[in-house]
Amino acid sequence: MTDVSGGSEPAVRVSKLGYVQFTTPDVDRLVDYYTKVLDFQLVEQAPQGAFLTTGFDHHSVVISQGDTRGRSVVGYEIWGSVADAERRLRAAGYEVERRSDIGPGMSEALVLTEPSTGVPLHLYEDQDRSGVDGYTPLRPTKLGHVAAFTPELSTLQQFYEDLLGFSWSDTVGDFFVFLRCNADHHAANFMASTKLDGMHHVAYEMRDPAHLITLLDHLAKENYRLIWGPGRHGPGHNLFTYHKDPDGNTVELFTQLDVMHDDNKGYWEPRPWHESFPLFPRTWEVDLATVNIWGPVNPELLDH
Ligand SMILES: [Fe+2]
Repeated sequence: MTDVSGGSEPAVRVSKLGYVQFTTPDVDRLVDYYTKVLDFQLVEQAPQGAFLTTGFDHHSVVISQGDTRGRSVVGYEIWGSVADAERRLRAAGYEVERRSDIGPGMSEALVLTEPSTGVPLHLYEDQDRSGVDGYTPLRPTKLGHVAAFTPELSTLQQFYEDLLGFSWSDTVGDFFVFLRCNADHHAANFMASTKLDGMHHVAYEMRDPAHLITLLDHLAKENYRLIWGPGRHGPGHNLFTYHKDPDGNTVELFTQLDVMHDDNKGYWEPRPWHESFPLFPRTWEVDLATVNIWGPVNPELLDH
């Protein structure tokens, strides 16, 4: 599978991944994990849940009461106005709801349902500032990407490209697609599966390898052990580690993700660890070097 975009103007242009929501039977436990283990800042407790941030935006993670589910909502910031997005999405045949009661930190959002997964997506213009000043030595710099299973990969890829303005970045085999909405290699990735559903993993960006190691030492002190990594992925070339949060959601901490500074040139900013120069978006073989250039594989994270 390659770029399935029709080439026409998308209805909306997403500018960044804003937030992800988790539902959990134990809100306090997950808030504890995010604040004490990952060093996020709790900005606000509201009827909709606990709102936490990595710094700049009012929130990058929302934790609310319910059955255990990662990626129960995904919020995307868009270029242009919510009013334009509403009009264009309706014209493209999508049901959208404009709401001003989404929660604190945002004036209004368009709510629509992600095809094939049923996950609500929130599209919004901007968030309030969190008021959190600066960065601590541990805290991740931002929410990087959320990966999910889908029973209909090409439908979902087409939706993200044609409706939300994402670009194709890479595919592994015929089952794992990486999509970007800005220079970062991927903000959304989807794995085809008729067996599994829901979130595959959520990923937070670290400044550099030293920052990542500092947080890994902190995780160990808090008795969180890695289930995979450190290693380096083929697609995106990010240095990665994976562990589980208290709900069993898979959490990736990463750094050195590929970036595309110039879409007209169309290749990833060259890095010493690339396989070829220049390196363009491509379809990768399903082999060990694709999954982890450095070596070991955790088969659980490839199951689909
Ligand atoms: Fe990832």
